[in-house]
Amino acid sequence: MSVSESSEPSAATDDKSFPIVVLISGSGSNLQAIIDSSSDPESSINIRAVISNNPGAYGLERASGAGIRGSVVNHRDYLNRSSYDLALMAEIDSHQPELVVLAGFMRILTSEFVNHYSGRLINIHPSLLPLYPGLKTHQQAIENGDLEAGATVHFVTPEVDEGPIIIQAAVPVFKTDSSNDLASRVLQQEHLIYPKAIRWFAQGRLTVQNGNVLLDGKQSSKQQVSFNEK
Ligand code: GRF
Repeated sequence: MSVSESSEPSAATDDKSFPIVVLISGSGSNLQAIIDSSSDPESSINIRAVISNNPGAYGLERASGAGIRGSVVNHRDYLNRSSYDLALMAEIDSHQPELVVLAGFMRILTSEFVNHYSGRLINIHPSLLPLYPGLKTHQQAIENGDLEAGATVHFVTPEVDEGPIIIQAAVPVFKTDSSNDLASRVLQQEHLIYPKAIRWFAQGRLTVQNGNVLLDGKQSSKQQVSFNEK
């Protein structure tokens, strides 16, 4: 058995009409921000399921705590990336989401998977893309003496950490920062911009034109966050 359920399904309400599925691998602090934001009565977001490749992901406990169905599709149960992604797609599609949200899902996805969800698959990455795709983004920003760092929400295309940018948040990098200091400053902003991007998508306010994301028909800009003190 490769797909296992870890909690009962949530009771969907009629006004929560926009179904999403969230994919995680670890702590799920972004998932928590999405859960919190979706509990706003004004929000139409219905988190139909949280799926993890990692049975030990703390995010599954967050899902269960919020009464959201959690399931595990463990990559260790599959021979190769392609068969894993097919099983993951089947599990996702069983929940019929209009949007698939990668929230710290630490797997490289096949182009078959990405194309299947074309235009309705988004990711958050802890850098100001196109700077620093991949891992150790905060360390690289510090080592390069960057004055600012940040996070990016983007549509997913087959190339890793590329794809049209929906929103970015920038924070300052201080001289004394460790990579953990910077990571936690960036993460705070992730928790603000990811629910916002999901809300925009659900409201039908995002379009992509020539590789650029438009919000209400206009180019959206980086969200600059200022700090008065370290
Ligand atoms: C975040 O930094 C996100 O940008 C990256 O993975 C991390 C996930 O953190 N893709 P969490 O599991 O949401 O706490």
